[in-house]
Amino acid sequence: MKSIELRGLTHVYSRGTPFEKTAIDRLDLTIEPGMTLGLIGHTGSGKSTLISHLNALLKPTAGTVLLDGEDIFASKAAIRAARSRVGVVFQYPEYQLFEETVFADIAYGPKNQKLPEAEVDRRVREAAAFVGLDERYFDKSPLELSGGQKRRAAIAGVLAMEPEVLVLDEPTAGLDPAGREDLLEKLFAWRRARAATAILVTHDMTIAGRCDRLVVMEAGRVVLDGAPAEVFARGDRLLATGLDLPPAAHIARLLRERGVDVPAGVYTEDQLCRAVLDLWRRKGGVPC
Ligand SMILES: Nc1ncnc2c1ncn2[C@@H]1O[C@H](COP(=O)(O)OP(=O)(O)O)[C@@H](O)[C@H]1O
Ligand SMILES: [Mg+2]
Repeated sequence: MKSIELRGLTHVYSRGTPFEKTAIDRLDLTIEPGMTLGLIGHTGSGKSTLISHLNALLKPTAGTVLLDGEDIFASKAAIRAARSRVGVVFQYPEYQLFEETVFADIAYGPKNQKLPEAEVDRRVREAAAFVGLDERYFDKSPLELSGGQKRRAAIAGVLAMEPEVLVLDEPTAGLDPAGREDLLEKLFAWRRARAATAILVTHDMTIAGRCDRLVVMEAGRVVLDGAPAEVFARGDRLLATGLDLPPAAHIARLLRERGVDVPAGVYTEDQLCRAVLDLWRRKGGVPC
């Protein structure tokens, strides 16, 4: 179980050039182990930059990243440990697939962990089956895969490392709705079974609503942080950052604007139905 602490994390791209850009700005964040954290924010708010620090892919310009209290840049061994314990699936999985075959790609992480060959083989097959990638793709080049299959292969490669922290940048982009739901269910189940930590970067507010905690970023900083009900209760602030609301929260907001007394923090369809039924009863309507 790994807690992650970001202290004063700052990342400046192209420092000292006309293209200088502060992507992360003195950000503090503690992520408790065993939770699903949704990281949300408009394009360019710094989400991908932030998660690239969690497995030591990017080095902070200032500040520290602590994994169970240890600076992940303290030594080469610490960097290696972070790469093995924190599995990151990036936004564009095609950049993460570079081996000649799909099998070799999924095997890359566990091989690096110096696991015996039989164990690597077992993990590759298990991870591929888990994400719904048929073994007939194993000998193909990752370049021959469709967008959705590439994403599944990249996710399988990270799951095969059995990380303690799983970080997914827009995990369901490029998948059809049924595939999206199926993959999400599996990822949530995977996290629960291992009591691992999951960090989901997403634009999809329905996915965000299923997380334990939401962190909203704007211009490299955290602007909202709390349980989904707390964050969605701040609908105006969320909309101001260029984000959407889950459909039920939107409807609740519209009803409130029209003077209907729907409680703040309603964001699921169930909650909305219950709130409307409550109102109906209070106004003397017949129970359904
Ligand atoms: N490699 C890079 N070089 C220069 N600027 C970058 C680079 N990657 C991202 N940026 C800039 O940093 C900011 C944050 O980007 P990013 O972390 O990708 O945000 P998000 O994932 O929330 O869309 C944006 O202004 C983006 O243009
Ligand atoms: Mg991004």
